Amino acid sequence: MAGIFVTFEGGEGTGKSTQLKILADSLSAQGRHVVQTREPGGTPEAEALRALLVIGDTDRWTAEAEALLNYAARNSHLQKIVRPALKSGHAVLCDRFMDSTRAYQGYAGGCDMDLLDALETSIVGDTRPNLTFIFDLDPKEGLARTKARGDGSEDRYERKGIEFHQALRRGFHKIAEGEPGRCRIIDATGSVEKVAERVREAMGPLLYG
Ligand code: TMP
Repeated sequence: MAGIFVTFEGGEGTGKSTQLKILADSLSAQGRHVVQTREPGGTPEAEALRALLVIGDTDRWTAEAEALLNYAARNSHLQKIVRPALKSGHAVLCDRFMDSTRAYQGYAGGCDMDLLDALETSIVGDTRPNLTFIFDLDPKEGLARTKARGDGSEDRYERKGIEFHQALRRGFHKIAEGEPGRCRIIDATGSVEKVAERVREAMGPLLYG
């Protein structure tokens, strides 16, 4: 069986991590070997970089520095986890990937897009996702969900202003428009079950193939 690489993207509080677990369970139930992972993170080295990015003052890093740190983490994750798993024919479900860098550091953060293009070409190369779900929700609702969830840690991006989160949502839409074959926008409003149904529909032949 060929490996498949599916990424879960979107703003804060869109429910993507919950949906990743639901899809992982349903693929496992069909006998697929599933690797659930996340970015920044997925290896001890990348998790150490994650800690530098998700806590602390909102202006701690420039957008360029964030892009470089995320790509250092991604390089480790791709080499040690993602590529070996795909080579073994596993389904790799990843909570955030390269589109988060484009949306957060690029569209919302103002990072030079040429830098992001160069990093993507060099570090991601051919290991592009087969399918990317972009969970779409009004950022006011998403941020309210994260506050209600309220574990308080890893909230550096949540503390950025609403304009940042609105630019982020527009950025994810632009990414989806640019690559309609790979990206599916998922309406993230409504119950967990309703959103899971939308994911199942969008997964289509890849789920059963
Ligand atoms: P999470 O909240 O989905 O676990 O992701 C951690 C945070 O890192 C989230 O606020 C988005 C941010 N992030 C970036 O800014 N750029 C990236 O490339 C990635 C992967 C995540």
